[in-house]
Amino acid sequence: MALMKELARSDFPSDFKFGVASSALQTESAPHEGGRGSSTWDYFIEDTPAVQFYHKYKDDVQCLKNMNIENYRFSIAWPRLIPTGKLSDGVNQTGIDFYNNLIDELVANGIEPFVTLFHFDLPSALQEEYHGLLSSNFVEDFTNYADLCFKTFGDRVKHWITINEPQVFAVYGYKMSLSIPDEPSTHPYIAAHNIILAHASAVKAYRDSHQPTQKGEIGISVSAQWFLPLGVMPADKHAAQRAWDFMTGWFLDPLVSGDYPFNMKAILRDRLPTFTEEQEEMVKGSFDFIGLNYYTSRYTKPLKLSSNDVPTGYENDQYVQTLTEKNGVPIGEQAGGFDAIFVYPEGLGEVLLHLKLAYNNPTIYITENGYPQKRNSSIAIETALQDDVRIEFLQNHLTYVRKALSEGVNLKGYFVWSLLDNMEMGSGYTIGFGLHYVDHDDDFKRHPKKSVSWLKNFITGSSSSSS
Ligand code: NOJ
Repeated sequence: MALMKELARSDFPSDFKFGVASSALQTESAPHEGGRGSSTWDYFIEDTPAVQFYHKYKDDVQCLKNMNIENYRFSIAWPRLIPTGKLSDGVNQTGIDFYNNLIDELVANGIEPFVTLFHFDLPSALQEEYHGLLSSNFVEDFTNYADLCFKTFGDRVKHWITINEPQVFAVYGYKMSLSIPDEPSTHPYIAAHNIILAHASAVKAYRDSHQPTQKGEIGISVSAQWFLPLGVMPADKHAAQRAWDFMTGWFLDPLVSGDYPFNMKAILRDRLPTFTEEQEEMVKGSFDFIGLNYYTSRYTKPLKLSSNDVPTGYENDQYVQTLTEKNGVPIGEQAGGFDAIFVYPEGLGEVLLHLKLAYNNPTIYITENGYPQKRNSSIAIETALQDDVRIEFLQNHLTYVRKALSEGVNLKGYFVWSLLDNMEMGSGYTIGFGLHYVDHDDDFKRHPKKSVSWLKNFITGSSSSSS
């Protein structure tokens, strides 16, 4: 990966927010402590030691301060606040105290909290009672939980993200604790529909009862990739549009225009739920900003399926084949520890411009962007700390952030994923996106990587060099 132009903080508007991001499930640990209820994704953390943010949050706030980071995105674990997921069953005061202490600690250190309300950890009780996201009951329970958060923390929290990566949760997440042998092909679309309604309902609660006095802002964090047509054929271009629609347009189109993308409606027909007029009104415009999680991009061409062997399901429904290379040349270098990420910073620029042009120039924060390194016992800590490749990754992506700003994209901030080498869904601790290495053999001690000094210098403006 070649290093593009070196950048400095002064290349960005003075009110542009630089931050670092994380999530509760991936960092807190302590799934059975402090009265927390279980979540549907807990089996990822049950047998592993994780990184103990629940106990070490004060040290971690110091890590942030040490980098001169002024914004921290973290998530609240719904089952830590409301163990059964239902407000009427009662709140867990120990959980409330934990997040109050964390927020106070951040604010006391001059760090603004960006709070995600739902980052994959659905209370198990809701899955057991009504299959979680597959039921419209989810909308009311999520709204009550969100409202509790606004009421309890909104005096200090001015940036709310309702839901993280709804596409990931709708496609992979809602069934985590269930085995569904012949999963109906409607399920992801029902789950997504309820996510959209829950998001919009929480935004309404915030706008009706809290925003006028608390004066914060609220949005959602979607995942996006840039899809490049493999060749010049219109079919490849149409495939790129369908891939976008099924990943990101699925959520942004309703939020901006009140309805699903045309391609989804045309392909899915009655497998796609519809919004009532009242719902449409609630959903349309239900954001103050769009959060964008960007890591990688793909080429596209149509997926050819003969009419007899078309198994319906989210993947095939799109009729898209995504590819990582063209004529044998990869779209970008494969990231060190993760075969899903091919480094393509230009894609971030394309996505940002597309958001501006196709979605009425919304306010945007990049809520995640980061680089995974391989982790295993044969890699010495000293080696893991030399993460020049992450510095290059961040610099190169920031080049496109700056380009987007010069093109009039209404971009207000950029968050690096992640503060620590934390638990990655599906990969555990075999990869690390962290700016800090966490030593599992030495009381989870945090070791700053080289990227920490780079980021600190960048934010402080004292140097733009990565060496
Ligand atoms: C997106 C998710 O929000 C986060 O939980 C995950 O760790 C990163 N991407 C990296 O895969």
